[in-house]
Amino acid sequence: MKDFREMKQRGEKITALTAYDYPTARLLDETGIDIILVGDSLGMVVLGYRDTTSVTLQEMLHHTRAAARGVKQALLVADMPIHTYDTPQQAVATARKFVDAGAQAVKLEGGASRVAEIEAITQTGIPFMAHIGMLPQSVREEGGYKIKGRIQSEAAALLADARAVEKAGAFSVVLEIVLAEVAQQITKAIAIPTIGIGSGEHCDGQILVTHDLIGLFPWFTPKFVSPEARVGEEIRRAARAFVERTKSSDKI
Ligand code: KIV
Repeated sequence: MKDFREMKQRGEKITALTAYDYPTARLLDETGIDIILVGDSLGMVVLGYRDTTSVTLQEMLHHTRAAARGVKQALLVADMPIHTYDTPQQAVATARKFVDAGAQAVKLEGGASRVAEIEAITQTGIPFMAHIGMLPQSVREEGGYKIKGRIQSEAAALLADARAVEKAGAFSVVLEIVLAEVAQQITKAIAIPTIGIGSGEHCDGQILVTHDLIGLFPWFTPKFVSPEARVGEEIRRAARAFVERTKSSDKI
């Protein structure tokens, strides 16, 4: 495992993207990316669910196994789905299943309120990535994907969350849709790297859902993403060309 704290100290940015299958994981791995996440965003961009709260453990394990076959150099992190880490014992049992499926680290959503589960995982020696800020598994309670840290009490709670997950043994922390200034403060305040998504440029690294980056889920792109490709359009173009070519070919 790369020393991500050292990368932070050197000012070397950490790069992370999601993958849910063998070819995507292999293609990303070949670019030299630092971290590949089998995110539970799987539920939305691959399985067609409304949000990530319907994703099951079996689905995540299945896709983790596929992605693991394609990864040689990046750190493969797997997301623990909702209600698979409700107690420290359950969290450890779930984390072990992901390691058996080929993940080298696990991630779950939550800060100070999840310290018992995070400590239970890190005490077993399984590398752990934290995730604070906007928590997609709580989107129904939150009423949408809203920016975090706009008010002082929320910013203070985020800083406390970051400190708590660092103390509990996380090797890094994802900051999702956190006000850029607050993300910068957190980044300065802790020794483990912050990996931002929609949280400004001052984080120690950046993560995106690959489908958003490459335009493979063209029906919705978060505001903070600048796509680098239009793969969805290419699929439509190739399929139309195939249909046209087939329909216009002579019958024997
Ligand atoms: O599920 C996911 O893809 C994630 C990233 C957005 C950080 O958790």
